[in-house]
Formats: sequence, C-alpha cells, structure tokens
Amino acid sequence: MRERDFLDRLEGHADAVQALLGALLSGDARPDETVRPERLLAAMRHGVLNGGKRMRPALVVECAALFEGDADAALRVAAALECIHCYSLIHDDLPAMDNDDVRRGQPTVHRKFDEATAILAGDSLLTYAFDIIAAPETRLPDATKVALTLALARGSGIGGMAGGQALDLEAETRELDEDEITRLQRMKTGALIRFACEAGALAAGAADEDRQRLVRFGEIVGLAFQLRDDLLDLTADSTTLGKAAGKDAARGKKTLPSIHGIQWTQSRLAGLIEDATALLAPYGDRAAMLTALASYVATRKN
Ligand code: IPE
Ligand code: IPE
Ligand code: MG
Ligand code: MG
Ligand code: MG
Repeated sequence: MRERDFLDRLEGHADAVQALLGALLSGDARPDETVRPERLLAAMRHGVLNGGKRMRPALVVECAALFEGDADAALRVAAALECIHCYSLIHDDLPAMDNDDVRRGQPTVHRKFDEATAILAGDSLLTYAFDIIAAPETRLPDATKVALTLALARGSGIGGMAGGQALDLEAETRELDEDEITRLQRMKTGALIRFACEAGALAAGAADEDRQRLVRFGEIVGLAFQLRDDLLDLTADSTTLGKAAGKDAARGKKTLPSIHGIQWTQSRLAGLIEDATALLAPYGDRAAMLTALASYVATRKN
C-alpha cells in the first residue's frame, strides 16, 4: 500500500472518531443522566479531544472492515475503546503515577485542571466506554454487545491494563526479569490493542477462527507498540513525542531496549512486523491497510 494512501486513510479514521467523540462528549445530558458538570466535562474533553494518534480506533475499524462489519457500529466501539485509552493516560500522568506535565504536546489534565478533576475525568471516561457499547445507538446484536463488554472489561481491568499499570509501578522499586517485563507489557498496553483487533472481528460477526487470528495479530501489534514506546522513550526528544522523554531510565525502570540496545530492538520490531504480516496473509490484499498499520505502530516517530 502506498504511504500516502495509508496516511490518508489513517487520517480519515482519526477524523471520524474525533467527530464522534466530540458529539458523545457534548454538554447535553443523555436520558437518565441529570446534568454534565461543566468543569468535569471540559477536563474529559481536554483528555480525549487533544489529538492522539487514534491507532486503536483505526485497528478496530479496519479489523471490522476486513469482515465487512457495519462501519458505524465499529466506529462506536472504537470510540469506546479510545475513552478507556484516554482515561488510562489521564491517570497514568497523575502525580501518584508518572507525574507528567505534558501529554500530546499539551498540559496534562491534572495540570490544566486539578488532580481531583483528573481522577473523576478518568472515572467518567471508563464508565462512558461501557455506556457507548451498551447504548441503543450502537446497532449490534445484544449478544455481541455482551461479548464486547466482557472482552473490554477483561482487557482494561486487573488482569489487563490496570493490572499492568500496577506491575509497571512495581518495576520502579524492583528489577524485573525479561519474562516479567514482557508480561507487564502484554497487560499494560498489549491488552487494549489486542482488544482493538478482537473487537473489530466481534463487531463484524467474524467466524471464531478469524477472531482468534486477529487476537493473535493484536497481541503481536501490542508487543511492537510497547517496544516502540520504550525505544522512543530512550531515543527521541520530548518535543517530537509530545510527552516527556527519558522517563523510564529516570525512574529506574528497565525496558527491553535499555537492556538489549537499539539495534536489537530494531531487529525485534522488524521480526514482529513480519509475524503480523504473515498472520494476515490468508486475507490477501484486503488486509493491506492492517498490515501497514502494524508496521506503522512499530516504526512510528511519536
Ligand atoms: C501512549 O499511547 C501511551 C501508552 C499506552 C504507552 P499512544 O502512543 O497510542 O498515545 P496517543 O493516544 O497517540 O497519544
Ligand atoms: C502507559 O505507559 C500505559 C497506560 C496508560 C496504560 P507509559 O507510562 O509508558 O506511557 P507514556 O510513555 O506515559 O505515554
Ligand atoms: Mg506509566
Ligand atoms: Mg507515563
Ligand atoms: Mg512510555
């Protein structure tokens, strides 16, 4: 796939999810809500509508498209996942966690607002994700919504992202071995990326075998994502990243790139791209965008 076509299509997905998230985070209370407090809503909007790369939504939408799933339903699932992701970033940046001032090139939510508001913005986004999936506007069979809810809960909770964040904090006080580092990565970032791919297949009603294949693809992309994140933390500058660089070393956190070096990491990333591409080979050209997404994740500059 041509680079320009890939970037256009990625931007198209980012714009679509941005527009939907903007509408979902409007000031209008939904049925059974009372009011949406202004300051909390502003904090949520700041944490969500501030220009992320929207890689996870793109994965959801493309995985659904591979099996000709309904595009609007997939986009809503993508928006739900992005709410969870943004909540995880808002909380990750809090003083009690990574204590960061800049995210996506802008002040973090707790810096622009305050800590309590940032905590509540995260809480509200986490809950909203499940609201978006369950809501009648998401036109999917109820059984599919239950499957998505379960998969998202498992990917986000104690055995997924939140659990991974706990292990990540532990890594600041105790040196983890490589297996422990890999397990931590599978959880802290891998689980939501895995969900992105599984969710696309689920939303499209793909056959079990296809869903399993996409789960595996998601796991590989997840590993590549975090490996790249750790490499960028080691090698890139804060302006390019839109967030503080060099944090892992500063906090005494060992990562695979810091243990094995840049070359090793780059060849491991190339290997992961190959594995991801091989997994999607049965789908031929229809998977071109997904294959390109996998290599984008592994080679991105921010
Ligand atoms: C950054 O995720 C944080 C991690 C999960 C390591 P992204 O790199 O996807 O961040 P945005 O959404 O594009 O800002
Ligand atoms: C954050 O990991 C992972 C989650 C938010 C789940 P990092 O702490 O490495 O992410 P950055 O580098 O701050 O984006
Ligand atoms: Mg962190
Ligand atoms: Mg962080
Ligand atoms: Mg990082």
